[in-house]
Amino acid sequence: MTGINVAFGGVLALTDVSVTVEPGQVHGLIGPNGAGKTTLFNVACGLVRPTSGRIVWRGEEMRRLQPSKLTSLGIARTLQGVGLFPGMTVLENVMVGAHRHARAGFFSALVALPTSDKDERLLRERAMRALTELNAERYAGRYPGSLPYPVQKRVALARALVSEPELLLLDEPASGLSEDEMNELGELIRSVVGRMSVLLVEHHMDLVMRVCDRITVLDSGKQIAAGTPAEVQADPAVTEAYLGDAVEPGDADELTHADGGRNHA
Ligand SMILES: Nc1ncnc2c1ncn2[C@@H]1O[C@H](COP(=O)(O)OP(=O)(O)O)[C@@H](O)[C@H]1O
Ligand SMILES: [Mg+2]
Repeated sequence: MTGINVAFGGVLALTDVSVTVEPGQVHGLIGPNGAGKTTLFNVACGLVRPTSGRIVWRGEEMRRLQPSKLTSLGIARTLQGVGLFPGMTVLENVMVGAHRHARAGFFSALVALPTSDKDERLLRERAMRALTELNAERYAGRYPGSLPYPVQKRVALARALVSEPELLLLDEPASGLSEDEMNELGELIRSVVGRMSVLLVEHHMDLVMRVCDRITVLDSGKQIAAGTPAEVQADPAVTEAYLGDAVEPGDADELTHADGGRNHA
């Protein structure tokens, strides 16, 4: 994404932001609340159309990036929160993600389910493998609403992974997770980068610093820093942005402390 501008009404949510996720890398997107992280994430998944700027994917400029075409483009995402279909079992939810042409809505998701028994069986097997990778296979027959939040998040991630995307987009995947669960998530992200690239929007700094190869820092819709975790951590502009954001004195420690920002998910 190059030179991305987004205006909502008169408000500039993003001004001239450029982010390139390199193949096989985890690219982190961080910044204080309201910085524009979710907006940029939504540009990357076609939910927000930039006012101007270029989106290039697999060497081709995407003139209209449509959310319903993401899976067939080799891109998968999880949204802030969970977003599972409550009327489907865990396994069915993951199967929907496996479908190459799966669409965003519930009804199109139903339509997208395969018709032949053989397709159905293969899809089921792939979905079970994804659930197993996320250590959630024992919940296959359950309904999402009956499961603890961290398990629902694992299922949502399995649904994103099952299509074997080339690019995985994650918006605040660690929100609501315990320290241990966050560590597991970090390991999982590192374990999938061999197979895909990841764009990670996250405000848990320790996770971002640990798993990202490169980081872009946004503040008030502008890019204020970019580089390796060490470079970004040492950048005075970054510290300043987080200090300016601090509501409580402790917030300034967000860059180095494990539990920074957990409560404003
Ligand atoms: N749909 C929208 N309509 C109007 N303003 C929006 C919309 N979405 C986000 N904004 C504004 O854009 C800015 C960036 O928001 P957002 O991308 O959600 O930030 P972040 O995810 O970094 O907290 C904020 O000022 C927010 O109020
Ligand atoms: Mg956000």
